[in-house]
This record gives sequence, C-alpha cells and structure tokens, in this order.
Amino acid sequence: MVFVHKGGIALVAASLCILFPPGVITAAVSATPAQTFLGVGGSGAWWPHDLFNFPDSVRQNLSSLLFSQAGLGLSNYRYNIGGGGVNVSNPVRAPETFYVSPGVYNWSADPQGIYFLQQAAAHGVPSLTAFVNSAPAAMTSGHASCNGAFVNGTGLEYGTYIADVISHWRAAGLMIGFISPMNEPDNNFGPSPCGQEGMMVSANQRAEVINGVYSALQTKGLQNTVGILADESSSLSLATSVITTWLPSVIDKARMLLVLHLLQFSILSQVAALVHHTYDFPTDASYLSYVNNVQMLFPGKATWMSEICCSLGSANGAGRGWSGGYDPTIGNALMFAGLVFQSFVLAGEPHYDASPPNYLGYRFWTLVSNQLGCSPLTSATCATTPNDNGWTDGMIYYDPSYATNKNFNLYLTKHFWTYKHFGNFVKPGTQRRPLTGSDVQQWMMAVSTPMTYSVLAMNPNATDSTLSLTFPDAVCALSAFRTSATEDFVTMGAATRPATGAAWLLPLKAMSLTTFTFDRGAC
Ligand SMILES: *[C@@H]1O[C@H](CO)[C@@H](O)[C@H](O)[C@H]1NC(C)=O
Ligand SMILES: *[C@@H]1O[C@H](CO)[C@@H](O)[C@H](O)[C@H]1NC(C)=O
Ligand SMILES: *[C@@H]1O[C@H](CO)[C@@H](O)[C@H](O)[C@H]1NC(C)=O
Ligand SMILES: *[C@@H]1O[C@H](CO)[C@@H](O)[C@H](O)[C@H]1NC(C)=O
Ligand SMILES: *[C@@H]1O[C@H](CO)[C@@H](O)[C@H](O)[C@H]1NC(C)=O
Repeated sequence: MVFVHKGGIALVAASLCILFPPGVITAAVSATPAQTFLGVGGSGAWWPHDLFNFPDSVRQNLSSLLFSQAGLGLSNYRYNIGGGGVNVSNPVRAPETFYVSPGVYNWSADPQGIYFLQQAAAHGVPSLTAFVNSAPAAMTSGHASCNGAFVNGTGLEYGTYIADVISHWRAAGLMIGFISPMNEPDNNFGPSPCGQEGMMVSANQRAEVINGVYSALQTKGLQNTVGILADESSSLSLATSVITTWLPSVIDKARMLLVLHLLQFSILSQVAALVHHTYDFPTDASYLSYVNNVQMLFPGKATWMSEICCSLGSANGAGRGWSGGYDPTIGNALMFAGLVFQSFVLAGEPHYDASPPNYLGYRFWTLVSNQLGCSPLTSATCATTPNDNGWTDGMIYYDPSYATNKNFNLYLTKHFWTYKHFGNFVKPGTQRRPLTGSDVQQWMMAVSTPMTYSVLAMNPNATDSTLSLTFPDAVCALSAFRTSATEDFVTMGAATRPATGAAWLLPLKAMSLTTFTFDRGAC
C-alpha cells in the first residue's frame, strides 16, 4: 500500500470489508487444466437380478434415471460377468454364467445383467467395463463360484473365455472397452455357502491371469481396444510391496490401470481395524500418499476410484466411516459428494465409479438397493427418514418385498440428486480447472469444455455463503442447478456480476451442492 495518510487504517479496514465480507469465498478459475476426466460411473451388481422382474415401464424409467442426462447421466457402467453362482446362497448375488464347456456358451444366460447393459448402451453410455468376481465353477480350484482359487496353468483357458464373452457382446453392439478380470483377488468369499462370488488369485498368479487375458484378446485383435484393469483390491501395503512383485512384468500389457478401491484401501491401511465393524475412510493424507506412491512406482498409470459405500456421517465429513444404517438425507448425501471431491480435487483422479462387489460381504454402493431398512407401504416416511436397520449403499431404492406386495416404486435419495451433478457435468474429455484462492474449499471445482465452464460448489455449513469467482477468459453466466434439503437439482438463476466488478457471484445456500454453468465468451 503506497498511499498512507491519516485514517488510512480505517480506510483499508473498510475496503477489506467490502472485498471480503463475511461468508464470501474469493477464488479464481485456473487457466491451466488439471486432469482430463474419464467419467462418472456405477455398477450393475447385483440389483439387475431383481429389477429385471419389474414391469417394463419401471425398467425403462430406471434405465433413464441411471443413464440419461435427464437422470444421473452416468458415463461408465460396470457389467458383472457372472460365474454361475455355484455355492452362493444369495440368489441376487449369483449371476448366471455364459460358460457351458471350453468354447461352448449359452448366450441366453444372464438375461437380467444383459438387459441393463443393453439399456446402458442404448442410452449412449460411452464407456462399458466388464468385471469378474469368479471364473466359471468348472475352472476354479473348488469347482464352485466362491471359496476357491484360480488354478495355475489355466490362464489361457480363462483368458479365452473372457475374450469370447467380450467379443460376442461387442459383436452384438455392446462395446465393452475395459475388462477387470479379477475383482477382489485377495478374497474367495468363503466359506460355503457364500454370500457372493469370489476367486482367490494369489499375487504370484496375477501375472498369468493378465497374460492369459491379453493373449486371448490379441488372438481376437482386441488387445488395443479392450483395456485390462488391474484391480488391486487390498491395501496400501500391497501397493508398495506385492504389486511390485507381479505387476512390473505385465504392466505394459494393454492399457493397464490400477484401480483403487477406496473401501478396501481404508480397511487395510488400518489393518488393526479389520475385525471391527467400523473403520475410518482414508484421510486426505493417506489417500494422497497412496496415489503418489502408485505414480512413483508406475509413472503415467492412472489410479481410478472404483468403489465405496455404506458410511454415515455429516455434510462436512465428520463421522465418516464404514457403517450400517440408512440415511437418505442431504447431510449424508453431501458427505458422499465430499468423497467424490476428495478423489477428483485432492487426489486428481480421472474417474469415479460408485460400484459394488466386495470385501466384507456387506452391501456396497450399488446404484440401486433394497436395503431401505423399513417398509415403504406401511410407513409414508420410510424412504425419506434415516433408520438403523438399512444400509446407505444405493442412490435409488426399491421395496425388498416387491415380489409379494407388488410395490414397484423407485425411491430416490438425496444421494441420487447430488451424484447427478457429477454425472451430468463431469463428462469424459472434460477437464478440471482448479480453483485458486486462500479460502478455497476442497469441495469446489470448475470443469471445462471448449465451449463451457461448469462450477460445482458445495456448502456443507449451516449458513449461506457466496463464491466470488473470476475466470481466465471472458465468460457469460448461463444457468444453475441446486440440490439442498428442499431442492432436487432445481434450476436456479445464473451467477450474476455487479456492473463494476470482474468477479461473478455464485450464491451457495446452506447445506447444498450447486452447479453454475457459463458460456466461454462475453455476454
Ligand atoms: C441358457 O440359459 C437360459 C437362461 O438361464 C436357460 O433358460 C436355458 O435353459 C439355457 N440353455 C441351455 C442350453 O443351457
Ligand atoms: C460347495 O458346496 C458343496 C455342498 O455343500 C460342498 O460339498 C463343497 O465343498 C462346496 N465347494 C466349495 C469350494 O466350497
Ligand atoms: C502358481 O504359480 C506361481 C507362479 O509360478 C507360483 O509361485 C505358485 O507357487 C504356484 N502355486 C501353486 C499352488 O502351485
Ligand atoms: C420414474 O421414477 C421416479 C422415481 O420414483 C418418479 O418420480 C417418476 O415419475 C417416474 N417416471 C416415470 C416416467 O415413470
Ligand atoms: C464453511 O465453514 C468453514 C468454517 O467456518 C469455512 O472455512 C468455509 O469457507 C465455509 N464454506 C462455505 C462454502 O461457506
């Protein structure tokens, strides 16, 4: 400050007050993009088994809620290639297998899973991933779809089966672009009868699986079209030790990626907590250390966050951790949105999948769930009120008794509406533009396309505030969409700009997530 005169202190104080009134966060959109996003996704395990039985109008509605821009607008869908469910006691988690014998398939199997995969494709979901929890029973050590292991020497046989399935469905127009051939390789989900499918693939067997799948894809000319995902399920310690024993020999096969299962990562980053019923989700520090470690070991390989669910906790992240309990309210939905921001902003990850299968055999973030913990036909507030009996593992819920009471309603939680902000605006090919400014929160980001900016900003506080934002180029405010306790992605007035100022004002209502859209060009 050059011009100092009597009363200067008072003047400076007054102007600071104008520049930074309470409740205003001042930020600038960076001119330099951070990561390019691959998209926002979810998983088709295991709800298709039930939802396939719903009336066609409801199945169509559900597909639109998941896959169209009028709904979540997901850009990635994970299809579970079933292992036949041999020795799995829960029929919902026992998807049929196409496999009959080597080279012989029943392509009419798993009509449930295929129906929703077709719906995803028909709605133009750009990225389809297939994943496997277990090889068909005939190939596993115990001749079941769980409680057994991958058998040494069968890599090519297993890979051929995988490649046959993928090439069959690609020929039918379902353009599967990624394969995760050993989801949760550290757990066989036994003992029998099991709660879900699972196949142990020991670290020293994983290279054979990757080599087998890669060679079989190569035989079909698909090795550059279908990327192999190395689903490292277990731990930070695996990321630093076991991965280095097997991954380097196959790291250049196909488009290998390391997929971070945030849930398991958190389990084993706290090994002592394994036997407990609750544990903390990763702190920012341990999440960053994982991502940095992978980058150090395998430069240029992306990490994807592909799985999370089942946490209570409030909007600002307090109380986060593995837990039962159903909470469909805005507080928990913002807590979950905060986890998405953690992956996108803190860890800089290009992809976020809200997906299911898993480790402790509980319920996972499955997009669609029947774990309401109450009966919507007998209680009008069932679907909208928290309870201790259900699980917060879905965005859309259905009546667990639908088969007998014929209640085919779909119940949307606040999680659906908050996830829609990401699904609608964080599209493949969009780029994150970090926000800079000393009081910028981790729960804010701008997403750019050549023509637009979208600013996603969350206010987890009990008081309203305003984001005062400048852009590196000329923009014109277009619109805004808000989700709060009383609003579900409601269209709001666009951001405004005072006649004298360069900064746009973006109102952030208490306990809300708002997306503001801008045209890249002067008004
Ligand atoms: C193929 O699978 C369908 C669906 O489960 C089943 O109805 C049919 O019997 C199977 N066909 C053969 C030849 O196994
Ligand atoms: C599958 O179940 C059968 C019948 O209970 C049992 O004998 C067999 O050991 C189980 N297989 C595995 C791999 O657990
Ligand atoms: C399977 O093969 C791996 C790699 O050669 C080897 O380390 C492991 O001991 C074998 N496992 C069994 C059960 O033979
Ligand atoms: C789809 O389901 C939602 C949630 O239950 C409901 O609000 C909406 O009216 C349904 N739409 C159609 C076309 O059935
Ligand atoms: C929420 O409150 C915290 C703590 O007072 C503050 O730092 C932050 O800027 C507030 N966030 C918003 C979006 O208002």
